[in-house]
Amino acid sequence: MARHLITSAIPYINGIKHLGNLVGSQLPADLFARYQRQRGHEVMFICATDEHGTPAELAAKKAGKPVAEYCAEMHATQAQIASDFGLSFDHFGRSSSERNHVLTQHFAGKLDENGWIREVEESQIYSIDDARFLPDRYIEGTCPNCGYDKARGDQCENCTKQLDPTDLINPRSAVSGSTNLEVRSTKHLYLRQRGMRDQLAAWIDSKTDWPILTTSIAKKWLNDGEGLQDRGITRDLDWGIPVKKGDQPWPGMEGKVFYVWFDAPIEYIAGTAECTDARGEPDAAWRRWWRLDEGAQDVTYTQFMGKDNVPFHTLSFPATILGSAEPWKLVDYIKSFNYLTYDGGQFSTSQGRGVFMDQALSILPADYWRWWLLSHAPESGDAEFTWDNFQQSVNKDLADVLGNFVSRITKFCRSKFGEVVPEGGAYGPEELALIDAIDARIRAYEGFMNNMEVRKSAAELRAIWVLGNEYLQSAAPWTTIKTDETRAAMQVRLGLNLIRLYAVLSAPFIPFAADAMLAAMQTTDRDWPADARAALETLPAGHAFTTPDVLFAKISDDQRDDWQERFKGIRT
Ligand code: MF3
Ligand code: ZN
Repeated sequence: MARHLITSAIPYINGIKHLGNLVGSQLPADLFARYQRQRGHEVMFICATDEHGTPAELAAKKAGKPVAEYCAEMHATQAQIASDFGLSFDHFGRSSSERNHVLTQHFAGKLDENGWIREVEESQIYSIDDARFLPDRYIEGTCPNCGYDKARGDQCENCTKQLDPTDLINPRSAVSGSTNLEVRSTKHLYLRQRGMRDQLAAWIDSKTDWPILTTSIAKKWLNDGEGLQDRGITRDLDWGIPVKKGDQPWPGMEGKVFYVWFDAPIEYIAGTAECTDARGEPDAAWRRWWRLDEGAQDVTYTQFMGKDNVPFHTLSFPATILGSAEPWKLVDYIKSFNYLTYDGGQFSTSQGRGVFMDQALSILPADYWRWWLLSHAPESGDAEFTWDNFQQSVNKDLADVLGNFVSRITKFCRSKFGEVVPEGGAYGPEELALIDAIDARIRAYEGFMNNMEVRKSAAELRAIWVLGNEYLQSAAPWTTIKTDETRAAMQVRLGLNLIRLYAVLSAPFIPFAADAMLAAMQTTDRDWPADARAALETLPAGHAFTTPDVLFAKISDDQRDDWQERFKGIRT
């Protein structure tokens, strides 16, 4: 039994996430977590809300609420929607938690102790109209790298370049739009990550199996020197984790907080620490996932994220960990994703464009979305959501292939043999060939799932469903039964067992439908099929089942057009 630590990039608190956010981190992480659990491995799957920094403050301001209250409410909302989407976190934490305060201050103290922090008197943009400094997203302007005109002070969303507010061309306040800005001097802590360049480069070079998307972004920042400019890890903001050295005050830094990107990844650790109630010894329980000196040497740690998050996870967070000189677990594998676009443009939280998670669930169950998103995951390049493509994929894959198979077998059995698995005789050559073909495809599916090749896994799973349909079509028990009832019974018995097998194999993608299929087959046996032949004998003759309701309804052209119209505009 292996031990898998799995984290999804933690979504900003600033509102309900759109499907592009979902497919780039939380959903594929869930796919992997569910799969590894089903394979019998021990899994710790952590996510949280990212509650500090300018996104949180700006969103709270817009909602007209105190930021702490806004975050508490939005955390509860995001947690509920995540659970409705079937995201099976072992813990969904908050980066504003007490644990994260303590751990973040601990890391800062260690970094300072080891000489990795320097204090810098620097120039920051100050807004005269807003009477405040404008760090990060409080300022917008044109990207000096690509010319995108809505670049934010911390990063350009368009080209992923990490920025400083003073880099922006034609800067304006994101609070008021004011351009009445001046540069003022203020003191901040810098992480001397430039001095860790060689260590980080060697570490990244050793990761020869990482996706090209991940290593190419990491190396770009490393070799430009860009990503390894020493970076400010504190801000002039009210909301955040107060700057301290461990539990000691930090002279000269009173009233300042840590930068959101400093404390957010530390919440992966803090979130694990928060989820130990049922496991006895709280400390030992989480430390065995994170401390190499306390049991984490046999943990495999995988992170999931969108490409804009890669520099922070390949350079900044590892610099925090390495600089602490404490034996914390570093990530083993970073699975990153390109962007999902929406109907010819971008999904956008700030502009409310696209389909958001709550809206998605208000029109169709989670599995429809999970299937489409995962089977179209933006792995090798950006992917586009269109209503047409969504309709086709749902109607073909889910309704025609899988749903139809389940419905034909169960209804036929009910009408001819009743709602019990019939006896039938021995398999013939057709069945043996089918079982071999399925077995081979299951092994291929395992290979893709182990490697987190999401689209290929989906294609393989679909191919396994198709094999069942083709078999049913050619075996045609409705014809067989006219001349050979025993043989027809055997075909149906195999078909019912295929339903159970499909439920087990499909559960990581479509957990709700898988549950419904297992419930209909009146079994709780979710054993992963080590051998297809044996797995297809799980439901013996005489085993009772129920005929399920329609598993997947087709999307009509009218629905498709309605939705396209409804989600075309801007979310208000
Ligand atoms: N909130 C960030 C985003 O949505 C991701 C933070 S991931 C972490 O882009 F590493 F900081 F936790
Ligand atoms: Zn840019």
